[in-house]
Amino acid sequence: MTSQPFDLNRIRSSGLVREVEFHAEIGSTNDRAMELARDRTLECPFLILAARQISGRGRGSNRWWSGPGALMFTLILDARGTNLPTERWPQLALAAGGAVCQAIERAIPDVDARVKWPNDVYLTGKKTAGILAEVPSDAAGRLLVGIGINVNNSLAAAPLELTQTATSMTDVAHQTFDLTEVLLAALASFAEWRNKLLHDPPAFFEQWRMRCLLTDKKVCVRDGSRQISGDCQGIDDSGRLKLATPAGIERLLSGTVVSFE
Ligand code: BTN
Repeated sequence: MTSQPFDLNRIRSSGLVREVEFHAEIGSTNDRAMELARDRTLECPFLILAARQISGRGRGSNRWWSGPGALMFTLILDARGTNLPTERWPQLALAAGGAVCQAIERAIPDVDARVKWPNDVYLTGKKTAGILAEVPSDAAGRLLVGIGINVNNSLAAAPLELTQTATSMTDVAHQTFDLTEVLLAALASFAEWRNKLLHDPPAFFEQWRMRCLLTDKKVCVRDGSRQISGDCQGIDDSGRLKLATPAGIERLLSGTVVSFE
């Protein structure tokens, strides 16, 4: 794998992003996005793309492992420009999860990609992509959407604990993929899902529900100090996870799924 596996000219001329910053190696594209987002003159969507991350971050305090051949990028979005109220910005991260599913299915037509609420992407029952959405405290109106997709990085080379729970596109399809193609498919799908969210929310949530990995499963979610278990009924029209518990229906705006079966 070369240190420059992307066709930057093609990405720049795609019209899907306004600017592209490429790094052969970086700590974290989300950390870089945090720095850049403060610049009010930045044209959004601004794409930060890396061939290698030294300290990729996941949700909460998790790290994000990805070997050579993974796709790692962060989009700096002008969320205020969408006219979505701030409390609906997390729905843009839901859109990113749906978009990644769609991009993967375009590359591997016979595969069924699912979203594990809020926005992990699963193939063959294993995590294949993760999304880290962050709102910088010092860059009002901006939203960062960091996406990591295991593309050509076989999980056979990953730390042992990951091989049980994670997979990659190459592990599933037994072929390698053009990273530029996968990236452009993800960006194009994200534009579609975002537009659907803005202009036809009921259709957006219906489309998302069709991809929900957790529906009809017994799910346990940790939300701060609370742990809630119940039968998952998908998400409602605000993106909240619905769990049928002995005490009634719980609707969760945020949280981490600790188990599902
Ligand atoms: C998760 O599953 O917990 C989210 C993982 C997000 C990983 C991506 S890789 C590109 C971007 N930069 C980071 O440091 N993290 C996100």
